[in-house]
Amino acid sequence: MLPKELIQFKELKKTITVLTAWDSISSSIVEEAGADVVLVGDSLAMFIHGHSTTLPITLDQMLSHTQAVGRGFKKSIEKQPLVVCDLPFLSYQCGEDKAVSAAGTLLKNSCASAVKLEGAEKEILSVINRLIRMGIPVMGHLGLTPQSVKNLGYKRQAEDKKSQDKLIAQAIQLEKAGCFSLVLEHVPEKLSLQLKETLKIPVIGIGAGKHCDGQVRVTADLLGLTDKQPPFTKPLLNGKDLFTSALKSWVKNEQF
Ligand code: KIV
Repeated sequence: MLPKELIQFKELKKTITVLTAWDSISSSIVEEAGADVVLVGDSLAMFIHGHSTTLPITLDQMLSHTQAVGRGFKKSIEKQPLVVCDLPFLSYQCGEDKAVSAAGTLLKNSCASAVKLEGAEKEILSVINRLIRMGIPVMGHLGLTPQSVKNLGYKRQAEDKKSQDKLIAQAIQLEKAGCFSLVLEHVPEKLSLQLKETLKIPVIGIGAGKHCDGQVRVTADLLGLTDKQPPFTKPLLNGKDLFTSALKSWVKNEQF
């Protein structure tokens, strides 16, 4: 599937499902589960690498994880989910050339068909413009943008009218710049509904209520594998406890 085909999902009112994956095991599970899109999110910096923020992850690490994700798919290429990879912190904030090189490296050497990057400041819009003109599809990301944690924290964004108006204006600019979809993280439900109705591109929410065109979740959060559960993701199972007790019983020689 081409990234821009996600716009047809919106036109057909078909909810888009996006799950993160970080290696070949997680991607085979997420593919089998039937997700439309696999996001190799830079949240893997926290979940896999144990960092306290997404900031330390490098382009090389994101590339290596995306390659592993590609190796996990079992379906024929045309039936595989669309793969989007996060551009890591400082791979696109330092100018257009560096961003094209980073995004191009991911698309050239892995199964990724598109990149996601955060924000819509003037400089970021220029970068997005250039990437798209160079043939690199871009997914936008507004609201809680974890790469700005040192400025915004992890709290819910766009709580007041002024910041809601700003976010709406930024989302319209991202659509004009050519983004094929927009991730909206941890914002009021009313705002995501308004954006869904305003934009032609799909709005894919996380902690943004149920009215979005699609939903994205960090798979590790859904499976209950993380120590710090975000307030907006209810785990589907208590994965960490299940795995631990199964392994405990093996260690106690109960299951040889
Ligand atoms: O890195 C990530 O997993 C993400 C999702 C939270 C959307 O960007």
